[in-house]
Amino acid sequence: MLVTGGAGFIGANFVHRALAARPDLRLTVLDALTYAGNRDNLAEVGDRITFVHGDVRDGDLVDGLVRDCDTVVHFAAESHVDNSLQDPIPFLRTNIEGTFVLLEAVRRHDRRLHHVSTDEVFGSLPLHGGEAFTEETRYDPSSPYSATKAASDLLVRAWARSYGVRATLSNCANNYGPYQNVEKFLPRQITNVLIGRRPKLYGTGENVREWTHVDDHNDAVLLILDAGRVGETYLIGSGAEWSNRALVELTLTLLGRPVDDFDSVPDRPAHDLRYACDSGKIRRELGWRPRWAELPDGLAATIDWYRGNEWWWGPQKAETEARYAAIGR
Ligand code: NAD
Ligand code: DAU
Repeated sequence: MLVTGGAGFIGANFVHRALAARPDLRLTVLDALTYAGNRDNLAEVGDRITFVHGDVRDGDLVDGLVRDCDTVVHFAAESHVDNSLQDPIPFLRTNIEGTFVLLEAVRRHDRRLHHVSTDEVFGSLPLHGGEAFTEETRYDPSSPYSATKAASDLLVRAWARSYGVRATLSNCANNYGPYQNVEKFLPRQITNVLIGRRPKLYGTGENVREWTHVDDHNDAVLLILDAGRVGETYLIGSGAEWSNRALVELTLTLLGRPVDDFDSVPDRPAHDLRYACDSGKIRRELGWRPRWAELPDGLAATIDWYRGNEWWWGPQKAETEARYAAIGR
């Protein structure tokens, strides 16, 4: 198996999970080690994998790696909305061009591909009313990040239809868990409290996200690899919808701080109001169920992980906060 982006948050957790589930698996990680990639994320699996430091846009490198595997799982991406608003170029390059390079190699060598994507490609849902994205929802991305992920999804779908590439896709809601970069919402707030800063809430904090533990996401990907129907898309979401404000309050409570001990900061432009996935298809067809169904349990475990691993997040923290300070958030 070739895993692109396997030194990032979800990819590294996937590598851990896949090796635990399949003791005989031979696995290669291809990762460019951008600011978001970290070799330490794979320290525990050290000699069980082959690590290749390289870019998914490097056609010759990717061709050789794809030739030598059976299955490709594609996580590599620029993944942060705020960064995409500041500088979309790496997003176009990695998310669109990188996926194109990979697809061409997969086509040449007739390999199985799973493309990992996001529910952000569907845009925003109304705050109230209980509507959810489905596999049929029209694409309507709001940010440069989600537009480039939408483009990559469309490339995968077209390569499947035009060239018979054996691909599946999944679109998952917000993930949380160990090894998530401190630029993202939950690790940012947890580590802020741990260093004595106040959490930072964008705008009113009424925006709603659906939170899925990274292990549940990765279990879904493993199920799709085993039994998913080629050419199909599967939506993945735990059903745990929380407003950002409620989640900041819960984080503060779990860390023993008063619930109003946060700062409101200027809102993100084009800030999607609400995400929610109807994951009925993957539940019915593949029997997927989230194990971390209760977000407070998963959040408490995640807080424990950050509390115990300052060596991991400490070095990223000051630079990340400096980037936020530069944009007033
Ligand atoms: P991340 O930013 O933590 O990790 C991305 C990884 O890709 C890093 O290791 C980075 O070094 C690597 N990478 C970046 N550019 C590369 C390139 N040109 N060549 C090779 N490697 C490169 O991201 P994540 O949160 O782990 O997300 C992984 C995937 O899951 C992405 O495709 C993202 O769109 C998708 N996704 C994320 C979430 C979420 O909540 N984080 C939810 C749904 C889907
Ligand atoms: O839905 C899936 C997507 O979830 C993934 O595709 C993305 O890769 C991932 O980053 C995430 O996107 P979001 O934009 O939803 O996540 P982020 O962690 O940046 O923010 C979550 C919510 O919290 C969002 O409404 C913005 C808000 N926010 C974020 C930060 C960093 C704050 O209120 N304060 C903050 O400091």
